Amino acid sequence: MAEPKANDLMERIVSLCKRRGFVFQSSEIYGGINGFWDYGPLGAELKRNVKDCWWRLMTQRRDDVVGLDATIIMHPKIWEASGHTSTFADPMVDCLLTQKRFRADQIEPQSGIAYHFSGAVEAAPTAPDKSKKSDEPYSYLVKTEKSAELARRSAQVFYRQRGLIEPRLLGERTEKVENSTRYNPENGSLLTEPRLFNLMFKTYVGPLEVAENLAYLRPETAQAIFAQFKHVAEVARQKVPFGICQIGKAFRNEINPRNFTFRSREFEQMELEFFIRPDEVVEAICGAVATPQAPGHPGQPQPNWGWQMWHKYWVEERLAFYESIGLPRSSLVEYWQKPQELAHYARATVDILYKFPFSKRDDKGELAGEELEGVAARSDFDLSQHQRFSGKPMTVFDDELKVAWAKLDDAKKTALAGRYFQARHAYLLKVNEPPDRAETLARADAAALAHGIYVPHVIEPSAGVDRLALALICNAYCEDQAPDDKGKMEKRVVMRFSPRIAPVKVAVFPLLKNRPELVNKARQVRDLLRPVMTVFYDDSGAIGRRYRRQDEAGTPFGVTVDFDTLGEQGPDLKDTVTLRDRDTMKQTRVNINDLPALLLERIR
Ligand code: GAP
Repeated sequence: MAEPKANDLMERIVSLCKRRGFVFQSSEIYGGINGFWDYGPLGAELKRNVKDCWWRLMTQRRDDVVGLDATIIMHPKIWEASGHTSTFADPMVDCLLTQKRFRADQIEPQSGIAYHFSGAVEAAPTAPDKSKKSDEPYSYLVKTEKSAELARRSAQVFYRQRGLIEPRLLGERTEKVENSTRYNPENGSLLTEPRLFNLMFKTYVGPLEVAENLAYLRPETAQAIFAQFKHVAEVARQKVPFGICQIGKAFRNEINPRNFTFRSREFEQMELEFFIRPDEVVEAICGAVATPQAPGHPGQPQPNWGWQMWHKYWVEERLAFYESIGLPRSSLVEYWQKPQELAHYARATVDILYKFPFSKRDDKGELAGEELEGVAARSDFDLSQHQRFSGKPMTVFDDELKVAWAKLDDAKKTALAGRYFQARHAYLLKVNEPPDRAETLARADAAALAHGIYVPHVIEPSAGVDRLALALICNAYCEDQAPDDKGKMEKRVVMRFSPRIAPVKVAVFPLLKNRPELVNKARQVRDLLRPVMTVFYDDSGAIGRRYRRQDEAGTPFGVTVDFDTLGEQGPDLKDTVTLRDRDTMKQTRVNINDLPALLLERIR
């Protein structure tokens, strides 16, 4: 079968999502609300499975990571400390004609002839104010000089919007323009100058809508982890290196929500903040800092790992996670951000990209991929900021450091303390501490090493649940051929989800619904499996149609209770059922009592 085109494929996927209840537009009965999505019965199960898999892997199966479930609205100072109130903004531009808003950095460059007008005066004989004029300049980009009329008509609309009834255009001139991002790519009209637009949703806490009560819906779950770092470390009796993870809603007032659920205004994140020793501390304790020597997974964590090893470790762990839930390695891209792309606090960031059907293509025609997750080495920036803004120490006491430091010779102490001082000093200057104070604070931080005290560094793998659910849906979508009830081949849509994250694990069917013996037995099978997995019971329609419905839902296994199950064809087959595999469509005969273990092995 010919491969569907990318947009066409995406349309089919979106349509299946709606038809089968994976994803609906939020508030659709009122025309929808841009950037908000609801998950239907199958989508809700899929998302839950994704989060469960992540949570199990990231915390329950590890000794060194614990969980947190914090509030969405937090003290507004948190967002000052993190830098979100001042820097969490995108540049936006508005169309001067339609007022449509765009992200300035997403405008495709365009070339053509720009028609500039210096203003307009009123020319309507019946106008109440014939001296009315507008001095506001306006420009319009057309592809060829022949479209001059289009430019003039648009300019007239622009000046009419400014109160002129019949505008006579002034100061028309043309200019050849190459690769400009100043014009609306949809209609050619001039855009406003870029302005920064903060993406945080605002609200007021309490009955008074006054500045003191202003609060924000969190734009990321990470900051709550930093703010609660000391409490969690204490109650969980954890020592650095250790992590705190959280799954929860985040909100961003995106200028252009797009690509279905990919860029939404309300979404969920799965974030881990993994706290590590600064390299100077590792060196003091272990004598030297291990750095990555070879590509691939660096293996089990070791005490001598510096931040680069930990960063590499988490990138590889995260890639392995995606593979374990069914995204092939070939669909993923490991993108190392260039120095100029790094956030101001980051030492290194690896974006894990998935090749969505709507991804752009690179020079070689390959899908470039879109971000599923960022794995950032954030140094000690976040904890240090909360320490400065809250006035509460975010330091840890590391007894191993204290013991090791006492044994170092003076030259080593001076070298390590000197390097640590430099890093702290650079950070404090960057966040605008006055030079004298920065010097004093950084000296105190360096001196504290001798007492085993420091602010931990952090590695942050931060993933989006909704983007991952969308990647899994895109990856699972498949069209092939299957025989109908009469054996004729027809198109089949099948969602090839990994059994681990499939919304429904097994469907149970009685062959016929008007035979009570078959129905009773099928219900017994359903009740046997239901305590350990999601089961869908279906007795309506021809069996082929029922299989097809489950193929579209991505259910990996189908169990059919037939006359053999009742022992009508002989005692050998009594209490056996057919087990159908969604992908191969092969059917095998299995004893009912063996079903739970057999299926559990394949869905875990
Ligand atoms: N704490 C770091 C942080 O929030 P981010 O790269 O801004 O980093 C992390 O977000 C992940 O959250 C992204 O990789 C993506 O999966 C998800 N995400 C971010 N903005 C999103 C949006 N508007 N819609 C859906 N998911 C989003």
